[in-house]
Amino acid sequence: SAAEKGGYDYFMLKEIAEQPKAVADTLLGRIDAAGSLTLDEVRIPANVLREVDKIVIVACGTAFHAGLIAKYAIEHWTRVPCEVELASEFRYRDPILDQQTLVVAISQSGETMDTLMALRHAREQGAKVLAICNTNGSTIPRESDAVLYTHAGPEVAVASTKAFLTQLVACYLVALYLGQVRGTKWADEIRAVVRDLSSVSGAVERVLETMEPVRELARSLAEKNTVLFLGRHVGYPVALEGALKLKELAYMHAEGFAAGELKHGPIALVEDDMPVVVVVPSPRGRSVLHDKIVSNIQEIRARGARTIVIAEEGDEAVVPYADHLIRIPATPTLLQPLVATVPLQVFACELATARGNEVDQPRNLAKSVTVE
Ligand code: G6P
Repeated sequence: SAAEKGGYDYFMLKEIAEQPKAVADTLLGRIDAAGSLTLDEVRIPANVLREVDKIVIVACGTAFHAGLIAKYAIEHWTRVPCEVELASEFRYRDPILDQQTLVVAISQSGETMDTLMALRHAREQGAKVLAICNTNGSTIPRESDAVLYTHAGPEVAVASTKAFLTQLVACYLVALYLGQVRGTKWADEIRAVVRDLSSVSGAVERVLETMEPVRELARSLAEKNTVLFLGRHVGYPVALEGALKLKELAYMHAEGFAAGELKHGPIALVEDDMPVVVVVPSPRGRSVLHDKIVSNIQEIRARGARTIVIAEEGDEAVVPYADHLIRIPATPTLLQPLVATVPLQVFACELATARGNEVDQPRNLAKSVTVE
């Protein structure tokens, strides 16, 4: 009913709008006054976490994209090797796991069969399993050694939005907590990131206030057949997520690529006036990354692409090459996905509407896939 949707036309719009609160709620009570993480709910003892020598993240769909982003944060802050794998692939390839492996299973519903099978397999091999889950008492957390709940609240729309942002927050918390427990050389950076995380909810709010031009742009592209998405570093999984949203909702051919791979194939797809969305990393972070992507934008534009550039406020270097410019607030590089994903959700939702598709219940898809 309209009341359930809180005055929005679709649950997805309501859930997109709830993201600042979902992010804040997921942080609530997990950072103390001194800026340290208090994750007592992760019942894996500190000495066990100190012994962990490998982290394996398993998930499906949008949750898998959260895992891909988590890898960058975990390896940077903890220096523990981290693999990310689709749950449906992991289970069937005889993965190498032992008591020193920490498996992180990410699932909004807690009922995805492939993820459940992956965690059962991991536990049989003696690995510890930590679930990141949005649904209290669901199967995946019940069968795990520990759980960190995301506090997104119920997500109804099939295409995941607020659950994704909170999965990212939970992944950052796990990475920072591991860093804290293990006393990594990034201690100062970790404290700074904890502070930045606390202000990210406000940044998401600001993004939501500036989405009208994104909706307009989406409507103008309703007749297109293909949209490409490019990113580097954590912007690469964001590109994958932007493409997934467009497939799910707009039923358009959409692909996400690592911008560095352009020359190895994807650039051959670029046709005149083809929309290409580029996620640009902060120029203040690793500036090499930023410079590289600016030349990628030039390359595709020279081949006729219509460039849709998502870039930080104040990033002037991209302006000459952006046919459409979407501004996002400045955030540290590793946290940028929390703000960069939001315009892509709005973009896909509006394109679905413009194409007459059912936003909350896309064809052929289920909210939770409980068969293998
Ligand atoms: C389905 C949903 C996706 C979701 C995926 C994983 O495909 O349509 O939105 O990302 O399942 O679901 P989970 O509940 O495990 O996060």
